[in-house]
Amino acid sequence: MEKIEITLNINGKPHEVTIYPNDTLLDVLRDKLDLTGSKESCGEGVCGSCTVHMDGKPVRACLTLAMEAQDAEIKTVEGLANGDELSNLQQSFIDHGAVQCGFCTPGMLMSADALLRENPKPDEKTIRKALAGNICRCTGYAKIVQAVAHAAQPQDNCCDCKSKE
Ligand code: FES
Ligand code: FES
Repeated sequence: MEKIEITLNINGKPHEVTIYPNDTLLDVLRDKLDLTGSKESCGEGVCGSCTVHMDGKPVRACLTLAMEAQDAEIKTVEGLANGDELSNLQQSFIDHGAVQCGFCTPGMLMSADALLRENPKPDEKTIRKALAGNICRCTGYAKIVQAVAHAAQPQDNCCDCKSKE
């Protein structure tokens, strides 16, 4: 198979890469561009750990060909923070103990971020629905849902976290 050159727009910057036509976006992000925040777990579209945004919508990077992403704006978990400053959502995950082993966290953050951009004040049912495609083996989900809810609408009495300061 012949290699091709493409440009991917990732986190606001163009990246020229040489790929095989059947390379997945996840492989290119991780192996060619050293953007290893997106995780590969199942590799077949089930777990959500590889979730990134393509033109603002969450997609499974393990099921997306890099070629398909050529004309899109790609955002990875590395694009959520502003330099060293975490986004409210990232800080809320930390403050609520929503990160344990952390393997699901990048995908959870990207799904939650997409939800909050579309619906800034989702109720619990909506949050759970938006995260239904992201599997977590550690947390039992309650703390993740609480973290997303708090990032959307900080509650004085929801916890003792820094996000409400
Ligand atoms: S690694 Fe992509 S959905 Fe599991
Ligand atoms: S924190 Fe371990 S899989 Fe979610």
